[in-house]
Amino acid sequence: MNKLPLAALLALSLSACQQSNDVLVVGTNATFPPFEYMGGTDGSTVIGFDIDLAKQIAKDAGKTLKVENMNFDSLIVALNKGKIDFIASGMTITPERQANVDFSEPYYEATQAVLVQVNNATINTEADLKDKKIGVQLGSTGDIMAKSLTPAVTAFNSGFEAVMELNNGKIDAVIFDKEPAQSFLAKNPTLKQVPMTFTTEYYGFAVSKDNPELVATINQSLNKMKANGEYQSLLSKYMK
Ligand code: ARG
Repeated sequence: MNKLPLAALLALSLSACQQSNDVLVVGTNATFPPFEYMGGTDGSTVIGFDIDLAKQIAKDAGKTLKVENMNFDSLIVALNKGKIDFIASGMTITPERQANVDFSEPYYEATQAVLVQVNNATINTEADLKDKKIGVQLGSTGDIMAKSLTPAVTAFNSGFEAVMELNNGKIDAVIFDKEPAQSFLAKNPTLKQVPMTFTTEYYGFAVSKDNPELVATINQSLNKMKANGEYQSLLSKYMK
């Protein structure tokens, strides 16, 4: 490196800057259909509702979107290390997270859902979950909620894995956000959802506290998409 002429070094660092100026890096965990999941022709592209919103946000900012797929519980760390510019990952706005990151305006209203095996007759109410084994995604709001109900919580890197364990009878229930839970249900006829009412959650895009400009850009873009019908058409495209 120290053998490079100064001009070459300058050119290198300049091109690095320019690249990062044209690109907006979004972090996600693509195990959360229909918000973010693997798809495309060969199944190796991250697609979904959040990704389409993020693409438009990048476009409005005059940049191209780069998607970084990682574990859900690594996202806030990656954001605060500057590895990604924002998080689009069905992330619920919570006071605990707001201590570490800023959020855009809410862009989706959600709630938790409980899945059990279709022949399960013992789990009908929240109280029934008390002495049961519950599977969740690590670091999710479902994880926090489950831990408030029972000590027997197993946290997986994805909701898919929790659902597999439920199918195998290793756990009694899965607590997960309602839309992805319903998409898992559609693929697993051996499971059912137990109707229970939990608090309302709101998803937001997370941005570093050092980057209030990006929060403003995202909010502007969201408001534009809501006004011009784009938001609504993405809802119809992804939500069943
Ligand atoms: N809404 C929940 C939370 O914020 C779960 C989000 C999980 N997202 C994902 N892409 N896996 O904790």
